[in-house]
Amino acid sequence: MFHLFSKLLTFKNYYLRTMKSIVLLGAGNVATHLCKAIHNSSDFKIIQVYNRNEKSLIFFPSTLHKTSLLTEIKEADIYIITVPDDAIVTFSERLLFKGKLVVHTSGSVAMKTLSNKNRKGVFYPLQSFSKNSEVDFSVIPICIEADNDFDLDLLKQLGDSISKNVLAVSSEKREKIHLSAVIVNNFVNYLYQVANDLMQEQSLSFDLLKPLIMETANKIKHLSPAKAQTGPAKRNDKKTIEKQLNLLKESPYKDIYQDLTNSILNKYNNH
Ligand SMILES: NC(=O)c1ccc[n+]([C@@H]2O[C@H](COP(=O)([O-])OP(=O)(O)OC[C@H]3O[C@@H](n4cnc5c(N)ncnc54)[C@H](OP(=O)(O)O)[C@@H]3O)[C@@H](O)[C@H]2O)c1
Repeated sequence: MFHLFSKLLTFKNYYLRTMKSIVLLGAGNVATHLCKAIHNSSDFKIIQVYNRNEKSLIFFPSTLHKTSLLTEIKEADIYIITVPDDAIVTFSERLLFKGKLVVHTSGSVAMKTLSNKNRKGVFYPLQSFSKNSEVDFSVIPICIEADNDFDLDLLKQLGDSISKNVLAVSSEKREKIHLSAVIVNNFVNYLYQVANDLMQEQSLSFDLLKPLIMETANKIKHLSPAKAQTGPAKRNDKKTIEKQLNLLKESPYKDIYQDLTNSILNKYNNH
């Protein structure tokens, strides 16, 4: 028994030391950035990119094999699905091979919903990616999940090869991380849009607000969100709040202002 166990360990150590192959499934924002990051890894190699249409594949290096046919997908150690959340499950069912490690990169899709034909996992990079905006992958947290220790080790090794911050996280926790990410990224960015519209109504440039935006983001590096909070709602400056609500009388943004103000007032118990 001990003999078998140590043989398995030796196999695992040997396997983890060999170069592992990856096929990317999907060719959008995340696939583009993963491809660049993994290119510099000495332990993992992307051997192929699949996408449902050929057009999106032209942006990937010519040294990679590219295909838009599911029948041409090559044998690999890891398959990374990078299609939109709503398409992940159906897409995983359409894959023609069995018994392989297939992971997705979504913050909100539960691992168990992937097809039972293959071993399941998650490789979720906690960052906002756009094709033409460079990112430093080494500082991006990567949330991994797998349904066995062997695959979890493999995903950890892949994560470690491109990032300094890899953590094993359950699907339940990952959902909450993603919810929080939507708030700090998508909601905050939408508020930039609201401010942009208000500035434009007065023929003012949004650039005027950029030093304030940068300072607010910088402060959070060393202060908690609670300590960094300022403004009329935090101070309970009722007159200023009334004046600003009046300025928004006819505006579609009045409700957002009112809801956020109420939420801040409640948090600081001062109304
Ligand atoms: N973008 C981010 O900031 C970010 C961050 C972390 C995690 N993620 C996750 O990463 C995954 C991919 O996001 P993304 O931003 O890279 O998406 P994306 O840029 O929209 O790219 C999606 C890719 O999937 C393909 N696709 C779309 N619908 C499909 C379908 N029904 N069947 C098969 N392929 C389909 C698209 O092909 P075509 O070229 O033919 O349209 C495209 O190659 C999502 O699960 C997302 O939640 C995204």
